[in-house]
Amino acid sequence: MVVQNMGLDHVAIKVRDLESSVAFYRDVMNMGVSDRIGDAVAFLRTPADAEDSQHHELNLTQMSEEELSVLEERGERELDLHEFERDLHEDGPPMLPASGPIYHIAFEVPNYQAIVRAAEGLRERNHPIYRGPGRHGPGNNIFLYFPDPDGYPIELTADMEEAPEVGGKKPKQWPQTKETWNVWYHTQDLDEPEE
Ligand SMILES: [Fe+2]
Repeated sequence: MVVQNMGLDHVAIKVRDLESSVAFYRDVMNMGVSDRIGDAVAFLRTPADAEDSQHHELNLTQMSEEELSVLEERGERELDLHEFERDLHEDGPPMLPASGPIYHIAFEVPNYQAIVRAAEGLRERNHPIYRGPGRHGPGNNIFLYFPDPDGYPIELTADMEEAPEVGGKKPKQWPQTKETWNVWYHTQDLDEPEE
């Protein structure tokens, strides 16, 4: 062992517009600003109102003018998040709509009901939902995916499988199928109209 790793701690992402992103993580995601650096960086904690929250799980950094102009050239300066909702592939995890490398950032919620309430709240705001609610095979966790203002997919997760107390978890090999990504896949199919 080189690193006495105690687990994932925080994620830092670059954003097109810091104030829009802060508003999204505050109003939708129950996060609070702990500190800022100039008008370029905000550190956010979860949940916003808990006294024992750690300083930050998320660091939002404003993209520079240069970075924004690169996005402009690629046609990714402005995003229509609903457009990507229509283009999703069913047999994989949700993709970042633009060309960035991050698949998604996951936040824990207490249970399935919290995920259903989140989906309802997002629909009320006309905010796109990329996938879910569903249940992953690996981890057996319930999920919901939707984008933040930059298209970074957010995952809400509940009921993640825990390793047995003794011996740790033995790795299992899963097939690359829709059912691996969502064990409820066929259950949800039943509700869709037949063609
Ligand atoms: Fe995930």
